Amino acid sequence: MAIDLATTYLGLDLKHPIVASASPFGRDIDGVRQLEDAGAAAIVLPSIYEEEIEADDAAMVELFETGSFAQPEASGYFSDRVQPVGGLESRLETLRRAAESCAVPIVASLNGSTPNGWVEFAHEMENAGAAAIELNLYRVPAERGASGADVEKRWLETVRIVKDAIGIPLAVKFGPWLSAPLHFAGEAVTAGADGLVLFNRFYQPDIDLETLLPTAGLELSSPGEIRQALMWIALLAGREKAAIAATSGVTTHEEVVKYLLVGADVVMTTSALLRNGAGYLGTLRAGLEQWMETRGFASVADLRGRLAASRLADPEAYLRAQYIRILTGYPSAA
Ligand SMILES: Cc1cc2nc3c(=O)[nH]c(=O)nc-3n(C[C@H](O)[C@H](O)[C@H](O)COP(=O)(O)O)c2cc1C
Repeated sequence: MAIDLATTYLGLDLKHPIVASASPFGRDIDGVRQLEDAGAAAIVLPSIYEEEIEADDAAMVELFETGSFAQPEASGYFSDRVQPVGGLESRLETLRRAAESCAVPIVASLNGSTPNGWVEFAHEMENAGAAAIELNLYRVPAERGASGADVEKRWLETVRIVKDAIGIPLAVKFGPWLSAPLHFAGEAVTAGADGLVLFNRFYQPDIDLETLLPTAGLELSSPGEIRQALMWIALLAGREKAAIAATSGVTTHEEVVKYLLVGADVVMTTSALLRNGAGYLGTLRAGLEQWMETRGFASVADLRGRLAASRLADPEAYLRAQYIRILTGYPSAA
């Protein structure tokens, strides 16, 4: 049986649903080519950060100094693997070369959280050939002052300004720690998002009990991490006029299948590629195809959304009932 893996994302026609999410592979053109050769349906380049744009390298240096190295006790809160990656011009040049030489869409990523002038850099990315922009709204609100609504308002304003600066599609990547992720997703679409990327991963520090310092090793994801995005994508699917990308926890083709079943249009992967090499994209794709063949699914369209919560009359009551059943049904200790 010929399996049709085609899908669309942000209005882009893709040969299959497995996309390389933002990762160190995209730092240079050789890495981007590796991803393309391995069969990525689309490639998201690593983010360009608000701080980089606001004052180019000077702001990054200041961020690293005041945020980390100048406070030894705080240094562990920041991963030492994160380094400024060259100047803005060289980042744009990589984007330009990737967009020119790759047959698959190249998505440029902006990372920040405030509605300031930096977001207009999105326009430069469009001019450099990006097929779409992914806006990563990452900020850990560490002050007591701003409420959740205040934080979201700023993010939405940021989405609006980016959208106004570009003529290409815009995806918004956000985290799961909101009281009402579906409401935020809807507001992001109203503000101009053409796609929603669920979810950003937060890198939380641990504490080294020998040195009594925080540590911040970056751990690659594990398959259990799909559950949060799985539930929210199931609840979101079919509700908004926006494409849905799933990110977090893809380890084998099984996670890809699960994300498609709940309604994702594309499934993104980074950790699995860092662990196994870019060639693992081919393994994921072959696994997906084989699973579909075995189960008699002729196309991704047949599979997508089979388990979306829109098929439930009252998803909220269902989830609450499930929660109660799980907790009360657990056997008591012997
Ligand atoms: C080393 C590393 C670098 C990353 N760089 C970025 C980035 O620049 N921008 C971004 O939005 N996400 C970045 N991510 C997050 C990934 O794109 C992805 O959303 C996340 O790792 C969850 O997917 P996974 O479970 O497949 O790894 C990075 C992740 C890793 C592990």
